Amino acid sequence: MLIFAKIAPLKIKKEHKMNDICVMILAAGEGTRMKSTKPKVLHEICGKSMLYHSINTALEISQNVVVILGFESERILEHLNLEFPSQMGKEIKTALQDRKNLPGTAGAVMAGMSEVSKDTLIITCADMPLITANELKSLANEPCDVCVGAFELENPFGYGRVVIKNNKVEKIVEEKDASENEKAIKLCNSGAYAFKTALLKELLPQINKQNASKEYYLTDAIALAIKSGAKVSSGSLNSTNFMGVNDKIALAAAQDKMLALIRQKWMRAGVIMHLPNTIYIDTEASFEGECEIESAVVIKGASIIKNSVIKSGSVIESSLIENSDIGPNAHLRPKSNIKDTHIGNFVELKNATLNGVKAGHLSYLGDCEIDSGTNIGCGTITCNYDGVKKHRTIIGKNVFVGSDTAFVAPINIADNTLIAAGSVVTKDSSEGELVITRAKQQNIAGYFEKKFGKK
Ligand code: UD1
Ligand code: MG
Repeated sequence: MLIFAKIAPLKIKKEHKMNDICVMILAAGEGTRMKSTKPKVLHEICGKSMLYHSINTALEISQNVVVILGFESERILEHLNLEFPSQMGKEIKTALQDRKNLPGTAGAVMAGMSEVSKDTLIITCADMPLITANELKSLANEPCDVCVGAFELENPFGYGRVVIKNNKVEKIVEEKDASENEKAIKLCNSGAYAFKTALLKELLPQINKQNASKEYYLTDAIALAIKSGAKVSSGSLNSTNFMGVNDKIALAAAQDKMLALIRQKWMRAGVIMHLPNTIYIDTEASFEGECEIESAVVIKGASIIKNSVIKSGSVIESSLIENSDIGPNAHLRPKSNIKDTHIGNFVELKNATLNGVKAGHLSYLGDCEIDSGTNIGCGTITCNYDGVKKHRTIIGKNVFVGSDTAFVAPINIADNTLIAAGSVVTKDSSEGELVITRAKQQNIAGYFEKKFGKK
C-alpha cells in the first residue's frame, strides 16, 4: 500500500449507519480499452461480473444503491435482474444516462440524482471491483463536504491527478488535460468520492465540457466545490483495491488479487491447499468441514465441498461434494451431487447424483442417479443424448458394472445387477440378473499363420 505523505490515511471505521448513505455506481461507459463486444462492467472476476462485485459491496453499506446505465443498458439490466432479482427496483435503482447530450462521468451522475434519497452520496465506478465496504465508508466518515479517495502510483499514467497546493486539494486534472508539471504528479484520483448530496446538486449544473474529451467531468466538481467555500479533503487508499480495470491486463491482475483473498479466506477456515497459487476458486464456492485441495484445481460457480479431497487438475462446476475424493483430472460439470463416493482420473460427470459409488477411471456419467455399493467399471458411458433429447440412467444399489459398458438411456438398472464387461445395455434389468450383450467369442485355430505366414 502506498501512502501519500501530505494527506492522512483514511481511518476505516465501521459505525456509519447504513440508512444515511446512498451509493451511486457509474456503469454507463463503453469501455473501449477492453476491446470487446461485451460491455466492460460485465467482464467477470472470479465468476461474477465487475458490476456484481461493485453492487454487492455497495449493498453492505447502503439500502439506496443507484446504478447508472448507458452503453448496452438493456443487456446490463437483464444481467442485474438475473443476479439481484429481489432487490431490483427496491434497494437497487437504475437510471439511464443520456450519453449523447450529457457524456462523461458528471453526465452519468446527473442522470441518477433523482434516485438519491440520502444526505451523503458515495460515488464509485463499476470498473473498481476490489473496493471494500469499509474503504468506501471511510470516505463518508471524513469530516468534510467532499472527500476524494486518492492513492499514489509510481506510474500514474491514465489517472486523473489530484493537485495539492499548500497541503490542500486544489483540483483534479485529467491525464488528457494535464500540463507536463501536472503529469508528474503521482497522486491519483481513485474515482471514488463522498459528497454532501445537497452540495453536489448545486455543483453539477456548473460543470461544462470544455476539455480535451468534450465530456462533463465529475472531477471538475472538486474545484467548483472549493470555489463555493466547501471543505474538500482527500485521503490515501489502498491503490490495488481501487485499481480501475480499463483493459484485459488489469482484469487479470484484479482477478489474481481477488483469488488470493478468496484462497486466504478458505485456508483460514481450515481448508488445506497444495500450491495455492495454482488453485482457482470462484466467489460463490464454499467449503465445510475438513477439505484438501491439490494443485491446479478449478472450482467454479456456487459449488459446495464438504469433508472431501479434490486431487490435482480436477475441475468442479456448480456441484455439491460431500465425504468424497475426486480426481486427479476429473471433471464434475454442473449439478453433480456426490456423497461418500470415489471419483478417479478422467471421469466426467454432469447432472449426476452418486451416493456411495466407486467410479475409478475413464467414464462419462451424465444425467444419472447411481446408488450405494455400486462399482462403475473403467470406460463406462451413459449414452444420455439421442440426438434430440437428453434421457436419464438410473442404477440401483450394489450393481457391478463391468468395464466398457454403454447404458443407452432412458434405462433403469435394478439393485444387485451384474453387467458383463463390454455390454451395450438397452433394456432395464430386474434384481439379481446378469446382463450380457456382447457377441459370443470365436477362436479360429491356425488363422494367424494363414494370414501372415509362419513367424
Ligand atoms: C475516471 C476519472 C479519473 C480517475 C479514474 C479512476 C473522470 C473524468 N475521470 O477516469 O480522474 O482517475 O476514473 O479509475 O471522472 N462512465 C459513465 N458514463 C460516462 C463515462 C464513464 O457511466 O459517460 C462510467 C464508466 O462505466 C466507468 C466509470 O464511469 O465505470 C469511469 O469511467 P472511465 O471511462 O473508466 O474513466 P477513467 O478514464 O478511468
Ligand atoms: Mg476507468
